[in-house]
Amino acid sequence: MDLNGAAAVISGGASGLGEATARHLAAHGATVVVADLNEERGKIVADEIGGVFVKTDVSDEQQVQAAVDAAVATGKPLRVVVNSAGIGWAGRTVNRDGTPHDLASYRRVIEVNLIGTFNLLRVGAAAIAKTDPVDEDGQRGVIVNTASVAALEGQTGQVAYSASKGGIVGMTLPAARDLSPVGIRVNTICPGIIDTPIYAFNANAEEFKAKLVAPVVFPKRMGRPEEFAQLVRSLIENDYMNAETVRFDGGIRFQPK
Ligand SMILES: NC(=O)c1ccc[n+]([C@@H]2O[C@H](COP(=O)([O-])OP(=O)(O)OC[C@H]3O[C@@H](n4cnc5c(N)ncnc54)[C@H](O)[C@@H]3O)[C@@H](O)[C@H]2O)c1
Repeated sequence: MDLNGAAAVISGGASGLGEATARHLAAHGATVVVADLNEERGKIVADEIGGVFVKTDVSDEQQVQAAVDAAVATGKPLRVVVNSAGIGWAGRTVNRDGTPHDLASYRRVIEVNLIGTFNLLRVGAAAIAKTDPVDEDGQRGVIVNTASVAALEGQTGQVAYSASKGGIVGMTLPAARDLSPVGIRVNTICPGIIDTPIYAFNANAEEFKAKLVAPVVFPKRMGRPEEFAQLVRSLIENDYMNAETVRFDGGIRFQPK
């Protein structure tokens, strides 16, 4: 799938993995809609890459529709959706003080990470399906989701986050099957530890990151957002990649804690 001249919607495009992807795809000829809650950062990124910012909560039907409509309105055929919006959460199934996991926060993590991903996937796919095929295979577009290795090796205190990301892994194959008649591929990336502002919540962010890196096999460092963006582009450009969940993690395997 050629990116040049195509439109792309990237959720979470105002920061971290989504921002790096927005910049990378734009550098390779895509017109990018940055769909993010963060208006200030989102506008800056969109301006710098000649794209469009649409303030979007991925869990909201109308807002996601508006982001996809904005991509269609660019006049370039919508070919790419990248789901990168997401939130983290820490909480045990039963907390140390004996109280059960707070249900509202569990719901919110599922709402943003899992339902938000499906929301943009479904609305984006419906718009991609209306475009003309680009090749003799009948290909129209590609969707790339962002899960996490936490979907596969959920650690202590990650029950909500892991469930949300596991759901994304689980939807990959059936979504690819559903969308095959309209020529849309679906792939999911499971990042390990990538250096983005998602870790900024921790007051001792650098110390915290050094601890996270310890189990990485090689190279012994956090991943770079640009490396993630490069993988997204490969998944878009390689036409035989479909229904796949790819680890992107320097070989890390999460331990219980
Ligand atoms: N950085 C990592 O190590 C890592 C590892 C595994 C998975 N991930 C996943 O990658 C994705 C991107 O993470 P990141 O590290 O770039 O984080 P980040 O915090 O830098 O960026 C996330 C972006 O998502 C946006 N966002 C949050 N909630 C939203 C909502 N409801 N609607 C629209 N936008 C929303 C934020 O405003 C932010 O711009 C997330 O889904 C995260 O779970 C990250």
